Amino acid sequence: MKNVVVIGQGYVGLPVSIAAATAGFKVSGLDKNTDKVKALNLGRSNVEDISDSELNKCLNSGKYHATEDYSVIKNADIILICVPTPLDNTSNPDLSFLHDAAVSSAKFLKKNTLIILESTVEPGTTRNYLAPLFVSESNLLQSEFEVAFSPERIDPTNKLWNLKNTPKLIAGLTVDARTRASIFYSTFISTIIECESIEVAETAKLLENSFRLINISFINEISIFCQKLGVDINQVIKAATTKPYGFMPFYPSIGVGGHCIPVDPLYLANKAREIGAPTRFIDLADQVNQEMPGYFVGRAEEKIGGLKGKKILVIGVSYKPNVADVRETPVEALILGLKNKGAQVSWHDDLVKEWNGEKSVALSNKYDLAILATPHDYLDLTKLGDVPILNTRGSI
Ligand SMILES: NC(=O)c1ccc[n+]([C@@H]2O[C@H](COP(=O)([O-])OP(=O)(O)OC[C@H]3O[C@@H](n4cnc5c(N)ncnc54)[C@H](O)[C@@H]3O)[C@@H](O)[C@H]2O)c1
Repeated sequence: MKNVVVIGQGYVGLPVSIAAATAGFKVSGLDKNTDKVKALNLGRSNVEDISDSELNKCLNSGKYHATEDYSVIKNADIILICVPTPLDNTSNPDLSFLHDAAVSSAKFLKKNTLIILESTVEPGTTRNYLAPLFVSESNLLQSEFEVAFSPERIDPTNKLWNLKNTPKLIAGLTVDARTRASIFYSTFISTIIECESIEVAETAKLLENSFRLINISFINEISIFCQKLGVDINQVIKAATTKPYGFMPFYPSIGVGGHCIPVDPLYLANKAREIGAPTRFIDLADQVNQEMPGYFVGRAEEKIGGLKGKKILVIGVSYKPNVADVRETPVEALILGLKNKGAQVSWHDDLVKEWNGEKSVALSNKYDLAILATPHDYLDLTKLGDVPILNTRGSI
């Protein structure tokens, strides 16, 4: 039985840990967050896609445990790195989590271990940054361990496409690394796609998420156009989607959020600037995306004739429906914009519950306006009575 250590037990690391443990590997879920480690060992999952019962099954079988102790790396045959790769405060890639994870594990690294990076990075990071870091921080030569890259494509709460049936891209610094990674993943993922080089896989991941950012920003721009035209954007999308080829629907919103879509394209744009190949579509899409909350502040103002002193309820604050993840949520800019106009803003989100030092309030009829920012499935908007609603998902 092979020992696997998964560094980072969040939206990416926990599902892959549970999938590997269920496939028979002995998995240590390594995380530096003490509370998270404690909760996981008590059978409490922190991500929507892993139920407590699935987690408990793996804990009870002895195939999974969570830990903060990096010395588990000593016995690892395979290490997966699933730590955050956000932007820093100048919107450039922040590799500090990756750096810490590599430095903390390198001193325990043994010969022949396969290291697989799953975190999203810009092209060249695995080869030119991560592998040399493991060499300099361990007592090993590059030839004494293997390095692969396999970007995670998980879409939290997607009921159709999950970790097991979403094809997995795999690349290695050596053919051996790629083959070993493919053998590992094929025990719990149905389709494995081997890439010619690490840089192909790194760039493919950034292309996928840049494609989403550009198209979501584009549909949001068309949504503004349709609103001014007096046409329902969702009816337009429904009609266009009947074309059997050459069109793919994207839907209007208050903008993209989460740890991937607003972030990954800027990794691509950063690399593009570095090598002198600017990505103007990404820059423009990012700008349109950032302007969406302000657009809805304007719509709210128009709808109720000014915002000063008005009571506004913002409904749904996470970055997308049915998750509690508030990272990079565009709703934060919406609330700030409303407050800057003098509105008294409360928010309701029973999945998020507490956020920025405030608590979710109940849905009720005591507001001048409700703004439906993130439409979770559980919401019962009849509780608003006759409060006017501004729907950010497309309304005239
Ligand atoms: N969230 C998604 O939907 C998604 C999808 C595909 C790819 N990704 C990529 O996967 C990576 C991880 O994202 P995530 O959403 O799972 O993040 P997350 O914040 O949900 O989880 C990351 C975990 O890593 C832990 N961590 C941070 N530094 C550590 C260290 N040095 N040692 C041990 N643990 C450490 C944190 O405590 C946290 O629990 C990112 O590169 C992201 O871009 C995310």
